[in-house]
Amino acid sequence: MSLTLRYMRNADIPEVMAIEQVSFNPPWTARSYSYEINESTYSHMVALEHSNGQSAPAGWKKLLGAIAAQPPANTKIVGYGGLWFISGEGHISTIASHPDMRGHGYGELVFAAMLHRSITLDADYMILEVRVSNVVAQNLYKKYGFRVEGVKPKYYQSNNEDAYDMRLQIRGVRDFVPRFNERYAELLDRHGVIDLYSTAEFPAKESR
Ligand SMILES: CC(C)(COP(=O)(O)OP(=O)(O)OC[C@H]1O[C@@H](n2cnc3c(N)ncnc32)[C@H](O)[C@@H]1OP(=O)(O)O)[C@@H](O)C(=O)NCCC(=O)NCCS
Repeated sequence: MSLTLRYMRNADIPEVMAIEQVSFNPPWTARSYSYEINESTYSHMVALEHSNGQSAPAGWKKLLGAIAAQPPANTKIVGYGGLWFISGEGHISTIASHPDMRGHGYGELVFAAMLHRSITLDADYMILEVRVSNVVAQNLYKKYGFRVEGVKPKYYQSNNEDAYDMRLQIRGVRDFVPRFNERYAELLDRHGVIDLYSTAEFPAKESR
């Protein structure tokens, strides 16, 4: 199995929606994804796509990891995310990995790709909101240095749950960017991922 990070396309929306509907309450709509891909000028949507039939990453550990994490038949998208980038602020708007493929590092790949995308866009800092009960996601964000800055009471209307406001300072933090870049390169290498997203040009309309 080989993995590619790339900008999300219109053709991905059905698969993204299948993951979305079992991952979020309430889910975003297909129309929201279409807007983020086609109309928003500050949205950088990412998809992590796998394709079978190509060589697995070298090394027995990588090979075992790849075998253990074979996606279900007819599944191409194993993770996706949304980044809004506005005047120095990178805002993670959404992130999910395929429910059958969690715990294999795919959420982390998507997340780290959005962080790298923000760095290449010259971000000062990043922010996100997360349910206070969502310890898995919080662990992922903390792994990359995000800290809880505050609480937004009853932020999620579906059940009135509070959100943690999390933030990562980038600008002015000594060695943050070179250290992250090294870690990101290692992550891509470990999973044998081709990254066509985080340093790419904003895709032209006809290729979306
Ligand atoms: C949150 C989510 C994207 C994480 O993706 P994933 O593919 O399951 O996670 P990964 O395998 O990449 O793990 C990355 C890190 O997440 C944390 N994590 C993953 N699974 C975990 C678990 N079962 N318990 C605790 N922490 C966990 C760990 O910090 C892990 O790093 P580690 O492997 O070094 O310990 C995924 O669980 C998901 O799609 N959840 C539903 C949607 C959602 O909640 N999105 C977040 C909205 S704010």
